[in-house]
Amino acid sequence: MNIGEAPGKVILLGEHAVVHGHPALAAPVHALCARAELRPSDSAPLPDLRIEAPDIGLFAWLREMAPHTPIATALRLTQEALQLPSLPKVILYLTSTIPVASGLGSGAAITLAIVRALSSHAGQSLPLEQQSAIAFEVDKIHHGTPSGIDNTVITYGVPIRFQSGLPPQWLQPGATLPLLIADSGQASPTGRAVAAVGQRLQHAPAETQAAFEAIHQIVDRGTSAVEHGQIEELGACMNANHTQLRALGVSSPLLDRLVEAATRAGAFGAKLSGAGLGGNIVAVVAPALVPAVTLELQQAGAIRILQTEVPA
Ligand code: MEV
Repeated sequence: MNIGEAPGKVILLGEHAVVHGHPALAAPVHALCARAELRPSDSAPLPDLRIEAPDIGLFAWLREMAPHTPIATALRLTQEALQLPSLPKVILYLTSTIPVASGLGSGAAITLAIVRALSSHAGQSLPLEQQSAIAFEVDKIHHGTPSGIDNTVITYGVPIRFQSGLPPQWLQPGATLPLLIADSGQASPTGRAVAAVGQRLQHAPAETQAAFEAIHQIVDRGTSAVEHGQIEELGACMNANHTQLRALGVSSPLLDRLVEAATRAGAFGAKLSGAGLGGNIVAVVAPALVPAVTLELQQAGAIRILQTEVPA
């Protein structure tokens, strides 16, 4: 097999504060998937590795790509890790159901799919820690200063509590967490929102640190709620977290409308998820209320709604 895959991810609580050393909770979204396949050419031998990513209109020879682009960097770091003298002259075919720049981890997932496809082609498998480290390096190109939460949750594929500098803590939910993820349809690169929060920290350090501290406490409450299967309490934590994210300036009128729509229709709680300024919101919703909340989210402007769960 010459195929590598990786899931999407959702941040349940704690984005942005996690970039500044605080904890956050995240879970993989296995219903979304990035996929890389190394295909031999049907016709003449290829002169070089060729990248084909029809979803984003990318068709290029590796040697024509700037060396510091995410795909070229992922290939180089994986080649080094696998100690391959050269890269195979095949087609690297990339597809993904994870929307780009929407807070669901598409960048890290594509990197991991590439790492896994190339490893599989070489008949090797890299330790998960090394896979995660490669995705972290590539995320620096996407984000500037990633916390490491995206590459960690997507590599290991299990719910985590993450804090920079500490080993990730695996979360075992005490009950299934039923989620709706609703897309605002507004693409928002993570780096832009992370940089905006960085500037806010410089200009208004006291208020920004206070928001980070409040988020830290919400994440602690939320960790206990998840572990004890207290879904209502998790929803309350999400609502409180969204308020703090608004204070950090990373919400948007549409994201606020989606969060309000979800809670109005009976969700236990909702918040923007990921970097914000666009992208997705996540809501905890009792299964019986999913149709009503879905309808309200559509009316409020969501372009796509995914029903998923974090299993107990
Ligand atoms: C991105 O999924 C979440 C942020 O906190 C950035 C990061 O942690 O690297 C906004």
